[in-house]
Amino acid sequence: MTKEENHIVVIFGASGDLTYRKLVPALFDLFAQDIMPGKSAILGVSRTKLSDEAFREKMKKGILIFSNLGEDNKDKIDDFLARVYYQQLNTFEVDDYANLKNRLKIIDDEIKVHGNYLYYLSTPPSLYNIIPKNLAHHKLSKESKTTGWKRIIIEKPFGYDLQSAKELNRNLLKYFDEDQLYRIDHYLGKETVQNLLVTRFANGIFEPLWNRNFVHHVEITTSESIGVEGRGGYYDGSGALRDMVQNHLLQVAALVAMEPPTTIEATSIRNETLKVFQSLRPLSEHDLQHHVVRGQYTAAKVRGKQKVGYREEKGVDPNSRTETFVGMKYFIDNWRWGGVPFYIRTGKYLPTRVSEVVIHFKPTPQSLFVDNKDFCNTGNQLVIRIQPDEGILMKFGMKIPGAGFEVKNVNMDFHYSDLKQTYVPSAYERLLLDAMLGDATLYARGDTVETAWEFVQPVLDYWGNDHSARLYGYPAGSWGPDVADQLFEDPGITWRYPCRNLAEDGIYCEL
Ligand code: BG6
Repeated sequence: MTKEENHIVVIFGASGDLTYRKLVPALFDLFAQDIMPGKSAILGVSRTKLSDEAFREKMKKGILIFSNLGEDNKDKIDDFLARVYYQQLNTFEVDDYANLKNRLKIIDDEIKVHGNYLYYLSTPPSLYNIIPKNLAHHKLSKESKTTGWKRIIIEKPFGYDLQSAKELNRNLLKYFDEDQLYRIDHYLGKETVQNLLVTRFANGIFEPLWNRNFVHHVEITTSESIGVEGRGGYYDGSGALRDMVQNHLLQVAALVAMEPPTTIEATSIRNETLKVFQSLRPLSEHDLQHHVVRGQYTAAKVRGKQKVGYREEKGVDPNSRTETFVGMKYFIDNWRWGGVPFYIRTGKYLPTRVSEVVIHFKPTPQSLFVDNKDFCNTGNQLVIRIQPDEGILMKFGMKIPGAGFEVKNVNMDFHYSDLKQTYVPSAYERLLLDAMLGDATLYARGDTVETAWEFVQPVLDYWGNDHSARLYGYPAGSWGPDVADQLFEDPGITWRYPCRNLAEDGIYCEL
């Protein structure tokens, strides 16, 4: 049950980029729409010495550059910033938290938040064990009717592998209960990802077809048109499997595959997510060799500009075997999806930025219109475009007017941008608002995170231990290694290449 109550949002890592570019701009957008619940304050916390004023100045710049509504609501920025404070803290130093506690008390007395604190750990993961422990030491973690609620948002990565994810969960649970923990996966905050649930469960036409009897295969792509952009140091220790597949892609895949939840509430949805992850068929030795492709971008010209290869990026080991591309085929062994392959791929420096889910329906059992040059009976497709150009596209065959039975593939295309009056909030806006209201539906639960790690761990082990495990180079700006096309065994079936269909689908292509 969500509830509006006064509270303080305490951002650890407040001098970092995420606070400046995403968190504070998103909080401002909520404020500008007058939907910030209760009377809320924001306390930025980090090691850097800053006054309230200096912090506000910096945040003002961030709001003007990165918020959705700052430009049109300049008159509201100062009112918003009046509720923004800053506290210097040495996060390692347990005694220093007494100052934090004191500062919280002063703000609390002023705006009467009754001890309701929402912590946001926008810090390196190495602090995920330290900050909760130190908060607990000062009795800033436990909640009760008299001391107010305490919630804590944690940014990914939730662990580095299965073992560290389990350790992280175990540690967090020493100081916070599971229902106080909000593990943020910003993909779940994207409008079109949530719309997956609405498409499936608010429409009678799709759900009866959404199973092994009618679906031939499912394809999920998240491609990025940029490289590691100065994050080489972090990325080289992570790679696409940890950075994108274990979390974003599997979470999206769970929404595509899950059974109807009993309610649209955290427990039901997260229970269904867990069931999907528990049904993932463990990858065999054969699968690891033939159904998982990893790639790394190499130097090439992209849109007329020479780009360096991944190994030449700053912070990256010149002999790095870290993957910047993953393509994968897997199965969900349950009643609904038995035998239906799921294909997922993600990569840096691919030709365009696009995230989409494609449901490929089975072709008709008989090909009546075989002689058509423009129509191949490969089955209808439902394309759910997560970003950019958010929307839904249905592809199907239509008769071309005139003599005979000439058939052509046509599109029925809905763009979110057609809902002109509708403001589409950013993922952080939606997720921060939910956490303030105590709604964890779009946050990952500990057991689902661990189960997702269980699925990808054999891939990490295989790549780490078997030096013959292939790593394919692909030129920056291409669609990844060609061998990723071979994941599809049926002749004539391959990935959907949005760019190649530019004119037809109207998808924005940066090529
Ligand atoms: C982040 C990854 O979680 O998601 C980044 O760490 C990636 O490497 C980003 O670029 C992609 O998010 P979006 O919303 O731009 O698709």
